[in-house]
Amino acid sequence: MDVDIVLIDGIVIVNDRETVRSLAIDRGKIEGFYKHGEEPESKRSIDCRGLYILPGLIDMHVHLRDLNQSEKEDYETGTMAAAAGGITTVVDMPNSSPPVLTREVLDQKITSATTKRYVNVGFYAGIAERFDTSMVPDILGLKVYPHSPLTDGVNYDIERIRNCVQLANKHNLPLLFHPDSSTEDEKPETREEFFLIHSCESEVNSLQAFLDAKVEYEARLHVCHVSCAATTRLILEHRAEHTLTAEVTPHHIFLSGGDFSHDDGVAKMLPPLRSPYDSQMLAQALCKKCAIDCVVSDHAPHINSEKTMPFIEAPSGIPGLETTLPLILTEVFEGRISWVDFLRCCCSGPAMILGIPSKGILTEGYDADIVLVRRQEWYISGADFYSKAKITPFEGRRVLAKPVTTIVGGEVVYHEGRFMVGPGIVGRVPIRKV
Ligand code: NCD
Ligand code: ZN
Ligand code: ZN
Ligand code: ZN
Repeated sequence: MDVDIVLIDGIVIVNDRETVRSLAIDRGKIEGFYKHGEEPESKRSIDCRGLYILPGLIDMHVHLRDLNQSEKEDYETGTMAAAAGGITTVVDMPNSSPPVLTREVLDQKITSATTKRYVNVGFYAGIAERFDTSMVPDILGLKVYPHSPLTDGVNYDIERIRNCVQLANKHNLPLLFHPDSSTEDEKPETREEFFLIHSCESEVNSLQAFLDAKVEYEARLHVCHVSCAATTRLILEHRAEHTLTAEVTPHHIFLSGGDFSHDDGVAKMLPPLRSPYDSQMLAQALCKKCAIDCVVSDHAPHINSEKTMPFIEAPSGIPGLETTLPLILTEVFEGRISWVDFLRCCCSGPAMILGIPSKGILTEGYDADIVLVRRQEWYISGADFYSKAKITPFEGRRVLAKPVTTIVGGEVVYHEGRFMVGPGIVGRVPIRKV
């Protein structure tokens, strides 16, 4: 009985140590690990000598746009960027045009992503004044933007926050929120005002408001893109395994506001870049029992010409699907992040938070969502992105890890700059929870 594929003699991580093993894949699942010479017969084999065999990354915070914003990104370019970046599962945010507040829009997104996908795609929904419960079976969480609500006229006062927490609890979904207590009428007119309005104080106050509501109605709260040291401290004080989780982006770990003094939108995003002290504290918060559970890209593509506009006019958000793995694995290769922390923050952690079964770990019976990585020095260049958004604040940055081959559900989708299958063949849309 032949298995479908054997990945021969790659480097796998066992108990935080690099070990050479072969990995067999059969019918889309991981069949087992084998020592040299003990591999089963297979229809196909891939020589993995010198390559790391890692679980494909799960990026639980991306904006793939599509529908009315397909000029910024669509499910085809967005999931190609994911596959090329070693990310095998993405979860798409609801602040699209139109926003995901009804079953109808969710269905439009599912239909579009189904035909254009190169990786697994899951979805979140927003919360309209009357929540559309028919979306529940096909979403992985509820998302709210207190500073910029998806429904006009909704104000994130205590009452509204309580209702959202209650709703998440009722449907057993995590409530993801963008912590920012500024309001829509606080429109910044200068760069300084932008930083002042979206301050660390605003981030902390917003988190506190959600924590207060959580005291009354127990629900799973997930704090999006933590950017301040003070926020990590508040999270730690309220740490409760599984009911308070948090994410961080590579840009908030590796960049700080002072790195970009020119007046354009290249490094403009929400939350904004903070001080070097904040970045340092975020990097330290990645360990187990620390404040942060996972790394996300917050891939937020915009048209290239929009990002080169003066800072105040440029939209917030940067692409991240093709830089997350290289940036984080560089830290692993240089000894600043352990393999255990990498695997937890980028793979198993998000799977746990989302409650998606059989993903995020390379073990027998789990989905064969895999990335093969070469340790290699190269320099980030936005022009090479598959994403439509090609302007990155990481332009020219030296990194030490290159995704070489990406496997989704046991099928090789990407290999060395080429796509091995067309769109709509590999991956699942939508991803459902257990
Ligand atoms: C995001 C976007 O463009 O959709 N922008 C950003 O700066 N991160 C929205 C968000 O994640 O808050
Ligand atoms: Zn061998
Ligand atoms: Zn956000
Ligand atoms: Zn976002």
